[in-house]
Amino acid sequence: MWLESFLRTQLRRLLTKENHIALENEIPSLQSRFQDIDEFGLYLHIPFCRQICPYCPYNKEIYHPQAAERYAAAVKKEIDIYSELIGNRPVTSFYIGGGTPTTMLYTGLDCILEHVFEVFNMQCDVHMESHPNDLSLENLNAIISMGVRHLSIGVEALQDHHLKTLHRPYNVEQLKAVVERALNKGFKCVNADAIFALPGQTYSEVEEAGNVLVEMGVDQVAAYPLFKFAYTKWPQIAKDKNYRSASIFKRRRMLGILESIFYGAGFERTSVWAFTRPGVAKYCSVTVPLYVGLGASGGSYLKDVFYLNTFNVQEYTTALESGRMPIALSLDLTEKMQMAGWLYWRIYETRFKRSDFKKRFGKEFDEVYGKYVRPLSLIRFLKDDGDEIVLSDNGTYWLHVLQDLFSIEYIGKLWGTSKQEPWPEKMVL
Ligand SMILES: C[S@@+](CC[C@H](N)C(=O)[O-])C[C@H]1O[C@@H](n2cnc3c(N)ncnc32)[C@H](O)[C@@H]1O
Ligand code: SF4
Repeated sequence: MWLESFLRTQLRRLLTKENHIALENEIPSLQSRFQDIDEFGLYLHIPFCRQICPYCPYNKEIYHPQAAERYAAAVKKEIDIYSELIGNRPVTSFYIGGGTPTTMLYTGLDCILEHVFEVFNMQCDVHMESHPNDLSLENLNAIISMGVRHLSIGVEALQDHHLKTLHRPYNVEQLKAVVERALNKGFKCVNADAIFALPGQTYSEVEEAGNVLVEMGVDQVAAYPLFKFAYTKWPQIAKDKNYRSASIFKRRRMLGILESIFYGAGFERTSVWAFTRPGVAKYCSVTVPLYVGLGASGGSYLKDVFYLNTFNVQEYTTALESGRMPIALSLDLTEKMQMAGWLYWRIYETRFKRSDFKKRFGKEFDEVYGKYVRPLSLIRFLKDDGDEIVLSDNGTYWLHVLQDLFSIEYIGKLWGTSKQEPWPEKMVL
C-alpha cells in the first residue's frame, strides 16, 4: 500500500508539478470558458438501474418512473442553460451512459433526445449503453427510433456461474438471443462490455469467453479486468467469500489470451480495453477532448477547467427546478495538468500524433515529454513513427497499470465521497 501511495505521489509531481489536487465547491464563471472552444462532446448520465450490481462504481439508484420523469425535466432545463453558452458550435460526439439508460426508454429519454437535437447543432451519431434485460424487440425499435446508432450491451460474463457471482439477472443462453436480436437491427456498431479476471476464473474460461464473443458476431468488445472499488459492496463480498484478486501478471496473461483471439478474428485494438472489427466506427464514450456532462454526476472538461455535477439525483433535480446550476465541485487546470490529462486519454486510445499536441498546446510534444519517448521505445512499449506514436500491446497494458495507480484511487475518493455528500465543501485528491 505504502509503495502504491509513494508511486502515486511521485507520478503526480512528475506529470503535474502539483503537491495535491484540490477540487473546490465553486461554480466557475462559464461564459468565458466557452469562448475559444470550436467543438464539443456531450455526455448524458442516466442514474437509474433496475438492480444494483455489487461491484459497480457508477452513480446510480433504483429506478422509479416518477423520479425518472422529474429527472428528464431537470435535464432539459440543464440543456437550456448550456444552449445559451454553446450556441451554434458543432457537437461532434454524444454519449449516453449510466447507470442504465434503457430504464428511461418510456419515461423521458425520448423527450431529452428530441430536445438535444432541437437545441444543439448536432454533427454526430448517438452512442448509448444498455442492459441485456432491456433489449426486447419493442425496446430495440424504440432505441432505433430515438436515433441511437451505436449500442453497447453490458454482457459482463460468458459463463453462467460467473454471471451468478456478479449477481447478473440472466444466463448465457438468454444473452446470446439478446445480442443476435440487437445485431439484426442494423446498428452501425454493437459493442459488448465484458469483465475478466473474475473470482476463480481460469485461463481456459477466458479463452472460451473470448471465442463466444467473436462467434456472437459483435462489432466491438470492451474487455475490462474486474476493478475493486473500495466504496462498493464488492470488498466485503470478496472478504466473506474468500475471493482473491488476480495479480497484475495474471491479468496481463488473460488480456494476452483475449488479444490473440480478437486479433486472430481480424479485430483491431482501438483502446486499452477495446477491440473493433475493421471498417466499423468504434463505439466509444468520449471522442473529442472537450466535453460537457449533463445529469447527476455529469463531469465537464473545458480546456482550463474541470467540473462535476452533484451525484445526488434529488439534489440535482431540485437545483435545476429552482433555477440553480447543479455543479458541486470544480478544478482550475494548470497547463501541466491539461497536458497530463491530454496524454492520459491518448495513452488510453493507444496512439497519438505529436502535431495534435502542438495544435492543442502550441508547444512541441518533445519539448515536454520527449525525454520519455526514447527509453519507452527502447523497451518496446511504443513505436516512434515520426509524427505518430503508437503503443505496443505490452506498453498499453503496463502504462495503464501506472495510470490505474491514479485513477482507481482518485475515482474511488471523488465518486465515493460525492455519493455520500451531495455538496462537498472541498475535496483533496
Ligand atoms: C454502466 S455499465 C453498462 C450498462 C448497464 N448498466 C449494464 O450493467 O448492463 C458499464 C460497464 O462498466 C463495466 N464495469 C462496471 N463495474 C466494473 C468493475 N468494477 N470492473 C470492471 N468493469 C466494470 C461493466 O462492463 C459494465 O457493463
Ligand atoms: S453494472 Fe450496470 S446495471 Fe449494474 S449497477 Fe452498474 S450501471 Fe447498474
